[in-house]
This record gives sequence, C-alpha cells and structure tokens, in this order.
Amino acid sequence: MVPADAAGCARLERILFPGDGPWPEEAFLGELRSPHVRYRVVRDDDDGVVGYAGIALLGTGSGAEAEIHTIGVDPSAQRRGIGRALLTDALAAADAHGGPVFLEVRTDNEAALALYRSTGFSVVGTRRNYYRPSGADAYTMRREPGGSTEGQPS
Ligand SMILES: CC(C)(COP(=O)(O)OP(=O)(O)OC[C@H]1O[C@@H](n2cnc3c(N)ncnc32)[C@H](O)[C@@H]1OP(=O)(O)O)[C@@H](O)C(=O)NCCC(=O)NCCS
Repeated sequence: MVPADAAGCARLERILFPGDGPWPEEAFLGELRSPHVRYRVVRDDDDGVVGYAGIALLGTGSGAEAEIHTIGVDPSAQRRGIGRALLTDALAAADAHGGPVFLEVRTDNEAALALYRSTGFSVVGTRRNYYRPSGADAYTMRREPGGSTEGQPS
C-alpha cells in the first residue's frame, strides 16, 4: 500500500463499516507512517483499491505479538478469495515476527468469523459496546503462533 491508496481504502471503509466509525483517509495515512504497521492492498485496473488489510507487529522475543487492525474487500469483489489472500499474507508476516495474533470482530459478522476461524483464530473474550456509534459488541480472537489450535477453546 502506498499513500495514494488511502482515499480508496477510506471509500471502502464507508461502505463496509457505516455505523462502526469508518476510518478516514488520514487514519490510513497515519497507519502508513507507523513503523510497526504493515499494509497490503489489492488493486483493480478500473476500480482502484478493491481490498486492503493492515497488521501491527509489536514487541520482540517472548513479548512479540501482532494485531490485525483492519481488513476489507469491496462488496462487488467479495467471495473470490481476496480476503483470504490478504489475511494469509498478514499472518505470514505475523508468523515471521513471532507470537500470537489478536483481533476484534463484531459478534454478528458471520463472514469474517468464518474466515478467522478457518485460519486458526478462536474467540477468547467479548467486549460490550465496542463499536461506535453502533454500540455493537465485539469478540476478541486469538491465533497461536503458526496457527496451532492446540490448547485453544473451539
Ligand atoms: C470478511 C471479508 C474481508 C472476507 O473477504 P472475501 O474476499 O469475501 O473472502 P474470501 O472470498 O477470501 O473468503 C474467505 C472465507 O471467508 C468466509 N466468508 C466470506 N464471505 C462469507 C459469507 N458471506 N458468509 C459466510 N462466510 C463467508 C468463508 O469462510 C470463506 O471461505 P470459503 O470461500 O472457503 O468458504 C469480507 O466479507 C468483508 O470485507 N467484509 C466486510 C468488512 C469486514 O467485516 N471486515 C472484517 C472486520 S473484523
């Protein structure tokens, strides 16, 4: 992702997260300036950005962990494997960095929950009224290093 992609990501955020505080262009530009955050986009020749994902790689050694900051795919391009490709790429970076991966997801987001479960994430907690202004609840999910499901609740 380069700064010129930020407006396209913000356009998709307004479509994908209308009641949950969609990130503006400036938020993506701020993410790109952060040394610990890594973003990838998928672009279409005609439509520009059709998918994006960002992950923060934090800490070192035994304190290493990662956090998925955001992931989204244009509704007209969903169910073609773009979301899984973006997440797989982010998780490869997390595995190279080391440590578990965390994320928050709306408790009613069946598509994202299915994607996350299929890549090794499990629900480890619930955050009430996490999203604003909708007030929707979020699950916190965790993926063990390398995607191992050993010792995790199903
Ligand atoms: C979640 C999201 C990124 C998935 O992107 P995508 O490109 O459509 O996903 P893929 O085509 O790679 O599908 C990957 C898996 O996601 C799950 N999935 C995707 N769409 C689904 C749907 N409508 N219903 C159920 N499961 C779905 C499936 O497990 C699918 O695997 P399968 O195709 O082998 O069944 C996309 O639905 C999206 O942008 N949603 C809105 C934004 C969002 O909720 N982001 C996550 C916030 S935490």
